[in-house]
Amino acid sequence: MTYGGQDTRPKVTVRTLREAKEAGRKIVSVTAYDYPTAVLVDQAGVDLLLVGDSVGMVVLGYESTIPVTMAEMSHHVRAVARARPRALLVADLPFNSFQASPADAVRNSGRLMKRGAEAVKLEGGQRVLPQVEAIVNADIPVLGHLGLTPQSVHKLGGYRVQGRGREAADALLEDALALERAGCFSIVLEGIPSELGAELSRALQIPTIGIGAGPECDGQVLVLHDLLGLSFGKPAKFVRRYADVAGVIRTALEAFRDDVRSGEYPSASESYAAAPGASQPREAKQTPAPVVPEDKA
Ligand code: KIV
Repeated sequence: MTYGGQDTRPKVTVRTLREAKEAGRKIVSVTAYDYPTAVLVDQAGVDLLLVGDSVGMVVLGYESTIPVTMAEMSHHVRAVARARPRALLVADLPFNSFQASPADAVRNSGRLMKRGAEAVKLEGGQRVLPQVEAIVNADIPVLGHLGLTPQSVHKLGGYRVQGRGREAADALLEDALALERAGCFSIVLEGIPSELGAELSRALQIPTIGIGAGPECDGQVLVLHDLLGLSFGKPAKFVRRYADVAGVIRTALEAFRDDVRSGEYPSASESYAAAPGASQPREAKQTPAPVVPEDKA
């Protein structure tokens, strides 16, 4: 396997993900928001690369995903697409880009596809079925997203686990089946009990991708910055940190600061030499001192 445009692994498509479920092979998904992280995520061999609207919180410093705009999503999708990933590149439809009408949903999905996305994700169940159907009819693959849907944080009264009781679980099951019928190729299940994650994964033909939805989903997704230890604040219960990248960055920056202040940086080998003989400064021209009138002296 080689990188830099010569990756010989087959491209991941929506069909690959369906086959993975049928073969009992777990789907791996991670978010990425720019060129270098997209290259690294893809080199790691993940199946689905998500340009999530979580970009708003982990990269742009917003308090929720709600302020994220289509312009911001477009900018990040373009950067990720330049990595030409082998993974399926899915882009989030941000808050208010699809809710108002199926026409909005198709237009904004089309904008993300033109910028390099290969599928779009949108949050919601039966209330967004007309949007899902319209996008699928426009030949754009759709990834659903149910459970703790962050764009509904104010309606949900905070980032709370969903579907804990039987009635709420049944409503999510109905939503999931409706999304499958409407043509979603997969569904992200976020912040629901493991038992419900397992039940939905069994009930659906299409693969489920869990985040805080237990081990029996058909795949798992994490936000890259959470996984790397590059996000701030208390991580959610389901986050496993695989590195302390914030610590690595802090240590490097403090070492640079100390080297500059002590004169250790830059060394001779990190500096340029002038052409031979050119290092003598020219003799300064003797300009006569200006005559200052006595009353101003
Ligand atoms: O925006 C995002 O990163 C997501 C994942 C957490 C699934 O929606």
